[in-house]
Amino acid sequence: MEFSNLTIIRHPLVLHKLTLLRDRRTPTKIFKELVDEIATLMAYEATKDLGVEPRGVDTPLEHTTGHHISGKKLTLVPILRAGLGMVEGVLRLVPSARVGHIGLYRDHETLQPVDYYFKIPGDAAERDFFLLDPMLATGGSAVAAVSSLKRTGATRIRFLCLVAAPEGVQKLLDSHPDVQVYAASLDRELNSVGYILPGLGDAGDRLFGTR
Ligand code: PRP
Ligand code: URA
Repeated sequence: MEFSNLTIIRHPLVLHKLTLLRDRRTPTKIFKELVDEIATLMAYEATKDLGVEPRGVDTPLEHTTGHHISGKKLTLVPILRAGLGMVEGVLRLVPSARVGHIGLYRDHETLQPVDYYFKIPGDAAERDFFLLDPMLATGGSAVAAVSSLKRTGATRIRFLCLVAAPEGVQKLLDSHPDVQVYAASLDRELNSVGYILPGLGDAGDRLFGTR
């Protein structure tokens, strides 16, 4: 299955760590570390096309011309709760990024997203956004989060997740074709209650040890 809005990151370290993450026996502490590490590896790939401009620098020996990331200011926006697990991993590579937050949960009966929190830096039109959420399942949460960001003037948004379902990628493509999705895996399908198969279970519960 091919999607024009999807980039799958198939780095060997990502493949290895994702398999550990899927394992039902992986305890919360390790699960959290793996999400963090995969987020760093994904951020490396997802920032590959950021523009650079020349920047002068004085080495201990002489003056030379180096590089500086140009363009818009980067802002990370985790979707609560599970997206929080990816923030530090991305910040490790882009420590100057700002961090907004979007609070959404899926109603267990209807699978519709319910929003409860929204806070991002003020100058949204001036920023590049990385929306962070380990799971793209029906796509309801992702579409709602992107819509909320766009209402504040955001125009440049990427979605970083660990596991995506075809249904969610298609829904995001239909609603927001300008948003590129970066995922560690495109899984097979959703089950009858909206969980990704084979997936990794409930990301928020496994990250925070709830349930
Ligand atoms: C999970 C996940 C996504 C959402 C994906 O969050 O972290 O936000 O489900 O599902 P969707 O694509 O069908 O919308 P959940 O609603 O379980 O909230 P939580 O992170 O607070 O546990
Ligand atoms: N949210 C999760 O945490 N896991 C899924 O498989 C689907 C939605």
